[in-house]
Amino acid sequence: VDDRQATPADYGVLGVGAIAEAIVIGACSADGPPSVLLSPRNSARTTALAQRFASVSVAADNQAVVDRSSVVVLAVRPQDAASVLRELTFPEGRPVISLMAGISLDELGGLVAPARAAARAIPLPSVSRRAGVTPIHPPSAAARDLFGPLGGVLEVSDTRTFDALSASTATIAAHFEYLDAIARWLAAGGVPQREAEHYLASVFAAIADTLRDSPQDFALLARDHATPGGINEQFSTALREAGTLETVSRSLDAVLERLRTPLA
Ligand SMILES: NC(=O)c1ccc[n+]([C@@H]2O[C@H](COP(=O)([O-])OP(=O)(O)OC[C@H]3O[C@@H](n4cnc5c(N)ncnc54)[C@H](OP(=O)(O)O)[C@@H]3O)[C@@H](O)[C@H]2O)c1
Repeated sequence: VDDRQATPADYGVLGVGAIAEAIVIGACSADGPPSVLLSPRNSARTTALAQRFASVSVAADNQAVVDRSSVVVLAVRPQDAASVLRELTFPEGRPVISLMAGISLDELGGLVAPARAAARAIPLPSVSRRAGVTPIHPPSAAARDLFGPLGGVLEVSDTRTFDALSASTATIAAHFEYLDAIARWLAAGGVPQREAEHYLASVFAAIADTLRDSPQDFALLARDHATPGGINEQFSTALREAGTLETVSRSLDAVLERLRTPLA
């Protein structure tokens, strides 16, 4: 028996995929890291984390994660939740934090009873650099303690608001596809693809820095970057007239509706 498992770990993680890995790296990279007990599946990733961080260990099975952790973090895919949780017995009152998109607090409560569905959270990969603001719902000490040091929390009392924040994260892949479309256009015009990507990465990384430093009024930033009668104004106007921006809000409505529809 591993000695580190004799006292409960601060956090137990069920489902060690991309986002759980980011959380563990962020949480354990600072001084005085929490102890973390990982579910054993995905052994390449769990072993690498346990080798990298002295405060991380790997449980024998999922039930051991639940039994030997003060707070359980659920990070399996939403469609796997029911089958994974059905196999497990939870101690009464054990706080559970769910990262699973589209599973309401009520549904979660039913899945982990008699444990306590303490909070839902929407961390993003930047928590690995302790630079991601994580919406949590409802405000909860367990979720605040975990995610506060990883870039801060946005505490949300209202479920619909939390779901809207969750929906807004659906736009990230499209952001990269937008950059890819520009890179491919440059490549078609004769700029080697890699050079086009390198160039655009430097342009947009610099813009991301602007977002961190300046007043974050996006409409104002857009105006500041568009000379009247200039080419930025021309391009923005073309996208607006093509209905692209309405498509953004219409498509977010559809994502929100899907997130608020209970899983069968
Ligand atoms: N990625 C993000 O940025 C992000 C952000 C916020 C919330 N989330 C939420 O976080 C959850 C995980 O997302 P992800 O992107 O990290 O997905 P992922 O990389 O697919 O991670 C899910 C992990 O759960 C594992 N798993 C499946 N069945 C299991 C079981 N019975 N016992 C233990 N582990 C099991 C999977 O292993 P296999 O691959 O072997 O099946 C996989 O490693 C999702 O519910 C998602 O909605 C993700």
